[in-house]
Amino acid sequence: MSMTLAPMEGVVDVYMRDILTRIGGFDLCVSEFVRVSNSVLPASVYYKYCPELKTGGRTAAGVPVHVQLMGGEPGLIAENATVVASLGALGIDLNFGCPAKTVNRRDAGASLLQYPERLHDIVAAVRKAVPAHIPVSAKMRLGYSDKTLYLENAHAIEDAGAVKLTVHARTKLEGYRAPAHWEFLAPIREALRIPVVANGEIWTPEDFVACRDVSGCTDFMIGRGAIARPSLALEIAALNTPQFQWPEILGLLERYNDLIQAMDGPLRRAGRLKQWIKLLGRTYEPSSELFMNIRRLQDPSEIIDAVRASAVA
Ligand SMILES: Cc1cc2nc3c(=O)[nH]c(=O)nc-3n(C[C@H](O)[C@H](O)[C@H](O)COP(=O)(O)O)c2cc1C
Repeated sequence: MSMTLAPMEGVVDVYMRDILTRIGGFDLCVSEFVRVSNSVLPASVYYKYCPELKTGGRTAAGVPVHVQLMGGEPGLIAENATVVASLGALGIDLNFGCPAKTVNRRDAGASLLQYPERLHDIVAAVRKAVPAHIPVSAKMRLGYSDKTLYLENAHAIEDAGAVKLTVHARTKLEGYRAPAHWEFLAPIREALRIPVVANGEIWTPEDFVACRDVSGCTDFMIGRGAIARPSLALEIAALNTPQFQWPEILGLLERYNDLIQAMDGPLRRAGRLKQWIKLLGRTYEPSSELFMNIRRLQDPSEIIDAVRASAVA
């Protein structure tokens, strides 16, 4: 069994990875996607998205972080992958799932799911470009507007040399709307030789068990569930671990606030705090209340004051 912390642009950054991997239950993280549109990006860009490259490619808790690339041009993405490999990345993941329009206009992310041969060419080019010891993996959705090509896409990715395939069990058109279609994961797992990582809508240990039973997978990735319930991976790893109580969550928010001091711009820091408090509201009633109180605040220190006040309330 393995558990990966999902890549989440604007959410799962170096600070969130630090906090969640210290809690435990994760075997791997994947960076936010780095968009490769028309140039070979300098090392500074990769260090920005994955500062862990400066510490052996691992979080402080020792969990490896793979770097995710997104682009549609095999030669260019392969050249960028070479840079990432030279910086000591422990693995490279390729994004075939991002639904954002700005990306798809440039024909990357989920729009590539309409062309299995293009997925193949991108994975094959990256596999060929980076040293054999660096694993190349991919993450896809079940399709773009429908699910007709999901097996072709999965085969194309495997045949091109990917070591692993994560499947977010929805189409691009289905966005982030529940449910995730875990039942499509079993046929992919049965058709491929490489591990298939199940992803989508695991919010609780019960969801995990249901996803495992329906998909038959032994490898999983959780995203929003890990943000909304920071002990989720630990609860899954050791099924009698109790869920964190609200005071422990407040401690995590304090620590996160300390870490994001390194981030430019109070508005950005305020945004990050609000985002986390809002998602925590899915699991913790006091967080929904707290969010109502802080939603209009723009000063991160006022937000953290409200967090402290909610501890004594
Ligand atoms: C805010 C946000 C940002 C995301 N950014 C990425 C990304 O950079 N790369 C990627 O492959 N998937 C990204 N995803 C998709 C997640 O990795 C994951 O596949 C999806 O959220 C479903 O899993 P979950 O239900 O456990 O959250 C993002 C999702 C969200 C909600």
